[in-house]
Amino acid sequence: MLIESDNDLKGISLASEVVALTLKKMRDHCKPGMSTKEIDDYGKKLLSEKGARSAPKLTYNFPGCTCISINNEVAHGVPSASKILKEGDLINIDVSAELNGYWSDNGGSFVLGNDSNGHSHLVKTSKEILRLAIDMISDKVKIADVGRAMHNAAKKSGYTVIKNLTGHGIGKSLHEHPKEIANYGVLFDRRRFKKGYVVAIETFISTKSNYTKTAEDNWTLTGDKGGFTAQHEHTIIITEGKPQILTLQNGIWD
Ligand code: CO
Ligand code: CO
Repeated sequence: MLIESDNDLKGISLASEVVALTLKKMRDHCKPGMSTKEIDDYGKKLLSEKGARSAPKLTYNFPGCTCISINNEVAHGVPSASKILKEGDLINIDVSAELNGYWSDNGGSFVLGNDSNGHSHLVKTSKEILRLAIDMISDKVKIADVGRAMHNAAKKSGYTVIKNLTGHGIGKSLHEHPKEIANYGVLFDRRRFKKGYVVAIETFISTKSNYTKTAEDNWTLTGDKGGFTAQHEHTIIITEGKPQILTLQNGIWD
């Protein structure tokens, strides 16, 4: 959405604060032995206390309030009582919600406890690539140039990017114009970021895969070539200078 009034700015800022703090609290809540359903139930409680509603539930009738993807799962992991968290797991939590007609989205991957499986370099690289992308974005910057820079940074660190999952415009619904803000430079994509637009910028950095495939539950996405994937996401407002990061309170960069 394009910010057109003070109410728009207040509305999107409040929705963003709620999803950011929910993500942070859910991450802090994760302990070995808990199920992803327990984490999701906690997130559901936090969102409903603020009067916010799950965006994936409203938009896709997703069977959960938030997406919790573990280890080989790339995204859209369905919270389940049978998925039990273990020390050293690579966990991704993505929280998006609607509040008073405004929609915001954020997410982040992290390692639970001690990094016994060696995922922390991937996580660190994904966080750095999100920062690099957001630092580049301002009014009139080409969307493909940001994607190309993200892809180059991933390759330089020995990683691939997932090409079929992207950032997106957001604000009055979950996914809106400009859609498909990819993690690589899409040929012939002449679109530019525009001042005042709200967009969700997200990384999809993988050890092996380039695309996702859908698991048997018809929701969960895994990598086409396996491996592990990290995602970090902020909702931002584009300005003539540095973007205004609306979900900064999620603490994914702390
Ligand atoms: Co998201
Ligand atoms: Co998103």
